[in-house]
Amino acid sequence: MKISNVIISGTGCYIPKNVVTNQDFAKNNFFDENGQAFDASHDEIAEKFKAITGIEERRYVDDSLVASDIGAIASRLAIEDSGVDPETIDQIIVAHNFGDVKPNTIQTDILPSLASRIKQELGIKNPACVAYDVLFGCPGWIQGVIQANAYIQSGMAKKCLVVATETLSRVLDMNDRDSMIFADGAGACIVEIAEGEKQEGIIGMEVGTWTEEEACYLYLGKSNTIESDPNVRYIKMHGRKIYEFALNKVPQAMKSCLDKAGVDIHDVNKILIHQANEKMDREIIKRLFRLYKERNIPEDIMPMSIHKLGNSSVATVPTLLDQIRKGTSEEQHEFHKGDLILLASVGAGMNVNAVLYRY
Ligand SMILES: CC(C)(COP(=O)(O)OP(=O)(O)OC[C@H]1O[C@@H](n2cnc3c(N)ncnc32)[C@H](O)[C@@H]1OP(=O)(O)O)[C@@H](O)C(=O)NCCC(=O)NCCS
Repeated sequence: MKISNVIISGTGCYIPKNVVTNQDFAKNNFFDENGQAFDASHDEIAEKFKAITGIEERRYVDDSLVASDIGAIASRLAIEDSGVDPETIDQIIVAHNFGDVKPNTIQTDILPSLASRIKQELGIKNPACVAYDVLFGCPGWIQGVIQANAYIQSGMAKKCLVVATETLSRVLDMNDRDSMIFADGAGACIVEIAEGEKQEGIIGMEVGTWTEEEACYLYLGKSNTIESDPNVRYIKMHGRKIYEFALNKVPQAMKSCLDKAGVDIHDVNKILIHQANEKMDREIIKRLFRLYKERNIPEDIMPMSIHKLGNSSVATVPTLLDQIRKGTSEEQHEFHKGDLILLASVGAGMNVNAVLYRY
């Protein structure tokens, strides 16, 4: 008997050309949130930053590009990779947080939606191809995949293009040392129904939103310089609180995802976590394994791209997925037919999600 599976049939990504090293921030004057300069040299701040996040470099887009442009580039590659006729795509779901932001404007443009702009850039004419955005913090792309899966399972769609795109370089406070974390990038995939002999594709998921105390852990706030205009606002975060939140919530969400699918941690081949902070991601994995009373963590279980690409928000997971599929990742990782891959993310909202995928 044939089984109807929901699979990722193609992926693509856009990694911006401009490399920005930690040293490139030496020209910036960093202040704390009270406008006080740090009692440390730039080298000391950069060294500490690298030690606590793992980030050495990040990528920024050219001035001529906005988020929808790079989303369209990643989408074209995903469509090509999957071989689908773009006119047969039922939905275009685009995850982002700031929309299109032109250089030096700090102004979000989401009218029309990025999904409509990307559909136009792709030249898709079919009006039945519905295009809309998802605002879900960094977990937005995984959420888009969950949504695509739900529409496909319900029979309302057969093929969805799920895009992640972000140009965080356009919303940074260059006087805030936390700005060194953020990066630009885009990733995309085609999620579609496929008949098969065995169960494969999306086989489990878990999602949660915490707002009681956590809603504003990531927010918009004024620059750290004393004389800054409070009406001009940049991406800000309570980094330590996010760190603790992630360590508390993400391992449990990943385990719930595995439990629902009836899968044990020892059967998982790769875990792709949102690349926000290397130390944080390693601790999340450690805690996940601890939930199974397991102290031995397979060395190659968690691919990382944060050292060279930084945190491109929604785009980190689909970029990493595409790089591994195509053998272009910073580290040597491969997927094999039948592998179990766990995707997970945490971010603004505060949202946490996970998807289990059989390759
Ligand atoms: C922001 C973050 C890097 C700070 O790291 P941390 O270990 O929590 O930092 P702490 O506030 O405990 O401070 C530890 C040290 O690092 C320094 N530090 C903190 N942030 C820093 C930064 N951005 N750059 C350089 N040094 C930093 C502190 O001054 C302190 O130094 P000290 O030991 O000399 O006193 C970290 O909390 C983080 O990455 N959080 C998650 C952020 C995240 O995921 N954001 C995106 C969500 S999508």
